[in-house]
Amino acid sequence: MQDPVNANAPPTTIVIFGASGDLTRRKLIPALFNLHRKDRLPTNTRVVGFARRPYTHEDFRARLRDGADQFAGGVDENDWQNFAANLWYVRGDLRRHTSYEGLQASLRELEDGPAQRLYYLATAPEFYVPIIQNLGALGMAQHTEGWRRLVVEKPFGHDWASARALNQAAHTVFDENQVYRIDHYLGKETAQNILFFRFANTIFEPVWNRRYVDHVQITVAESVDVGHRAGYYDQAGVLRDMFQNHLLQLLTLVAMEPPASFNADAVRNEKIKVLSAIQPISPADVVHAQYRGYFQTPGVAPDSCTPTYAAVRLFLNNWRWQGVPFYLRSGKALAKKSTEITIEFQRPPHVMFDLPPDHRLTPNIFSLCIQPDEGIRLKFQTKVPDSAQAMRSVDMEFHYHSSFEGMLPDAYERLLLDALLGDASLFARSDEIEMAWHLVDPIVQLCQQPEAPPLTSYEPGSWGPVEADQLMARDDRTWRQGCSEYSAKAG
Ligand code: BG6
Repeated sequence: MQDPVNANAPPTTIVIFGASGDLTRRKLIPALFNLHRKDRLPTNTRVVGFARRPYTHEDFRARLRDGADQFAGGVDENDWQNFAANLWYVRGDLRRHTSYEGLQASLRELEDGPAQRLYYLATAPEFYVPIIQNLGALGMAQHTEGWRRLVVEKPFGHDWASARALNQAAHTVFDENQVYRIDHYLGKETAQNILFFRFANTIFEPVWNRRYVDHVQITVAESVDVGHRAGYYDQAGVLRDMFQNHLLQLLTLVAMEPPASFNADAVRNEKIKVLSAIQPISPADVVHAQYRGYFQTPGVAPDSCTPTYAAVRLFLNNWRWQGVPFYLRSGKALAKKSTEITIEFQRPPHVMFDLPPDHRLTPNIFSLCIQPDEGIRLKFQTKVPDSAQAMRSVDMEFHYHSSFEGMLPDAYERLLLDALLGDASLFARSDEIEMAWHLVDPIVQLCQQPEAPPLTSYEPGSWGPVEADQLMARDDRTWRQGCSEYSAKAG
């Protein structure tokens, strides 16, 4: 995760497959344009879009300019012209081998000599294997004229078997260290900060374990519904769409042991240990639900039993976390967009104050606010002034926007830059992907079994089904919304 740009390196070509799609316009080009403005792209970087639409180079640039205007915080004409001079378009059909021959010829002509290449798969997943095979057949993955890397967007398969098949297909053409699997949550500053917070400070790590922590909550709540993505979403559901990747990745960052160094394999080895320590999840520890009105979305099957919400309780079988429940929840059409990780500490073992018998001290609660109001918050008890023994919980807060100037960069800036620099720390390795599916597949299947807890429902705009509250209440706990309260105050 450093930014050394090597001025003597050969030119770099970023080839985007599926370049006429939304991801390119909304995310990839705005991120690359911002990197260009900050002078952080390697010198002589060009972008070649490859797709079926009959664009000219100029049509392609105009479409992307419009995207940059909307999603990169505005466009300065000079900056854009400099950047756009390195944008090119090649038309081709992803399923036809001759199109790849055409692409190879165009790349050779543009590069006019040795070049490094980043191939970015921004297509529908069914094209991943044909693209990889065609690149392989033409020798386009070989390092002979500069490095070759492959960036793959999620979904990495639909289940363990398809993820394994995809990994195997990738490995017949690329070495694992050439493959960069994007989980955009790992590019979020606040997700990266979890490791800095834990391992660049000394005061938190001693209490980050079963002796002090009562439980951990990870919430990824979205206020949007499935919108126009029902075709994909109804086949996926929240467990595949959010748990297999984003929630499990956040879990690994919170629960991992300190790696010996901050390099890709050291970090990923520790994550794998966390995933392999997760105990099989019991049916009684899963709630799955669908928001009311989901059926009316065009593209949703009339008898769909796809969950748009899930809450799961799980345990890690290791020394640090033995017996500490981790509660994970995520859903669409919820009250607010909010991603937060809450560490709830145990209550004091003995209370010396003279409190009413039914009074329970509010525990210390530590909230890592991943988005939207990025920051960190610690709740602790204080004495109410001018009272004998009354207490109240107060907060100690850190807000990114008040401590650091400027906007937080979009996750894709970090991830694209890291892929260009060859740093894979923020990308998922093949074994992580397979292990995550190994955990999620049984929960997905469980939800489809007749003996499983029935799929329940919830009101759009609520915090999810009552059964998710019951899952917590059963353990005498409640879901926390520490970061929402905190954003309300900050706002
Ligand atoms: C994507 C999911 O990976 O993440 C979407 O496919 C979801 O369904 C999105 O909306 C959430 O990302 P963010 O960055 O808005 O929290």
